[in-house]
Amino acid sequence: MTTHCIIVDNVRKTYIVREGIRKKRSVEALRGVSFNVRCGTVHALLGPNGAGKTTLVKIMSTILLPDDGRVQVLGLDVVREPDKVRKVVGVVLDISKGFYFTLSGYENLVFYGLLKGLSKRDAERRAREVLELVGLDESSYKRPYHTYSLGMRARVAIAKALVTDPEVLILDEPTLGLDVESARAVRDLLVKLARSGKTILVTGHNMHEIEMISNHVTIIHKGKVVADGHPEELKLKLGLPIKIVLRLREIPRDIEEKIRSEIPIVNMCREEDKLIIYARGRRENIVQSLLEILRHNNLPIIDVQIVEPTLEDAYIAALRGVE
Ligand SMILES: Nc1ncnc2c1ncn2[C@@H]1O[C@H](COP(=O)(O)OP(=O)(O)O)[C@@H](O)[C@H]1O
Ligand SMILES: [Mg+2]
Repeated sequence: MTTHCIIVDNVRKTYIVREGIRKKRSVEALRGVSFNVRCGTVHALLGPNGAGKTTLVKIMSTILLPDDGRVQVLGLDVVREPDKVRKVVGVVLDISKGFYFTLSGYENLVFYGLLKGLSKRDAERRAREVLELVGLDESSYKRPYHTYSLGMRARVAIAKALVTDPEVLILDEPTLGLDVESARAVRDLLVKLARSGKTILVTGHNMHEIEMISNHVTIIHKGKVVADGHPEELKLKLGLPIKIVLRLREIPRDIEEKIRSEIPIVNMCREEDKLIIYARGRRENIVQSLLEILRHNNLPIIDVQIVEPTLEDAYIAALRGVE
């Protein structure tokens, strides 16, 4: 068994948009997208609006057919074996869609379980299990869905995707529009699910929140992959400099030159008793070399501050690369 639970290989999709009776326009939503999702990880698919995230999520979950290329989920082909794929994948597309507003969250889930072929008893048991798993307050089990907050709806939507106990969970912008606390609850839930062995593919455009939970990030833009890797690896790959602010008792004239000869410096400047350094490379290596130079020159440090690039910076850099 491969360690990749989802394989996306050169996927293409063009939408034909009719404009009036004769005129047609084509939109290339995916232009040869490839990446792999390792089993048991939280993998983020990032990109600005219109990048192609939802299109790809729909293809992965057998809702939409690709024009070209291949997607495999747990070794199953989404085009040739859609029924089998649906059994092993849970999908959260639009958190507020697919629910009966007058039924409670619990009743919605029981109904869904019945549709999926569970017996009444099993459907009821499973509905309770998944609602407990996503942390929906038990007092809301019987309240109609239309009274639920968006945060509660997000939980119920994830619970619904979990009814069939899928190994793979695919979520399209599950925290969109949620308040800070609810978004955090959803993130924590995704991490918990990955720890329990599920493979999670989650799309989004908010770097900060993705950085906190993902083991791997694929950034797409205009239907193409522009960067792919672990968040830390991405920052390194894109060559983003880290910023080091040193406060020293004194800053000798020749120290800058000495630092330049040892460390790949992007920029360096002085500000009162501070030396501000922008350098490329691994944080550990840079800091170690820097400390050695200072020690060697008998320069005691009063304070040191290290500002690492964020995934946001990496994202912006990646998008800039393809503009
Ligand atoms: N049903 C559709 N018909 C025509 N164009 C579409 C359709 N769905 C999406 N698109 C276009 O395809 C591109 C990718 O859209 P989408 O996959 O929704 O991106 P994202 O989810 O990253 O915002 C966009 O240019 C969008 O306008
Ligand atoms: Mg979308």
